[in-house]
Amino acid sequence: MKDLYTFKDYYGNLVRLSFDDHPFSSHPKHVWVICRFKNNWLLTEHLSRGLEFPGGKVEEGEKPIEAAEREVFEETGGIVEQLVYIGQYQVYGKSECVVKNIYFANIGELIDKNHYYETKGPRLLQGIPKDVKNNRAFSFIMKDDVLNKSIERLTDEVQFE
Ligand code: GTP
Repeated sequence: MKDLYTFKDYYGNLVRLSFDDHPFSSHPKHVWVICRFKNNWLLTEHLSRGLEFPGGKVEEGEKPIEAAEREVFEETGGIVEQLVYIGQYQVYGKSECVVKNIYFANIGELIDKNHYYETKGPRLLQGIPKDVKNNRAFSFIMKDDVLNKSIERLTDEVQFE
C-alpha cells in the first residue's frame, strides 16, 4: 500500500486510511461524499451528530457510486454532476469493522425538498472551520484525520472552478 495513514478517531477507535484503489474492500458497505456546490462545501446537518458531509450505507443490490449519489440527494437535495473516487478508510469499532469509500462530488443543482431523512438538510459553508475538532456543531465523523487528509488530496487532484 503506497500511503497508509493510521490514527485514532474521536472515540478512540483505530482508523486506517489510504488513497489507493479500494485497498481494504472491493465491496465497501459505506460511502462518504465530500461535496462542492458553487464554490461552497455542501454538508448536511444530521439530527443527532451535527454537521457532516453526506453519506451512509450501501443498500442491497446497489453499487457504492449509486449509494453515494442517493445519499447526497436524500440528505441534501443535491444532484451529483461529477463523482470522483478519492480513497477508502476502515474503522475498527467495538463490534464491527466499517469500510467506507470517500468520494468527491461536484453538485450541479440543489433541489428543495420537504424531507431529508435523518438530517435537517443542506448546509453550505465557504470554509471548514479550523477548530472543527473542538466545534460542537460538527459531527464526530468530521473530527479525525480522514477529513483533512482527504481535502489535502482533493486540492491536488480536483480542479475547483
Ligand atoms: P445504524 O445501523 O445506521 O444505526 O448505524 P450504526 O450506529 O450501527 O453505525 P455504522 O454501522 O454506520 O457504524 C458502526 C460504528 O463505526 C459507529 O458506531 C462508529 O463508531 C464507526 N463509524 C461509522 N462511520 C464512521 C466514520 O465515518 N468515521 C468514524 N471515525 N467512525 C465511523
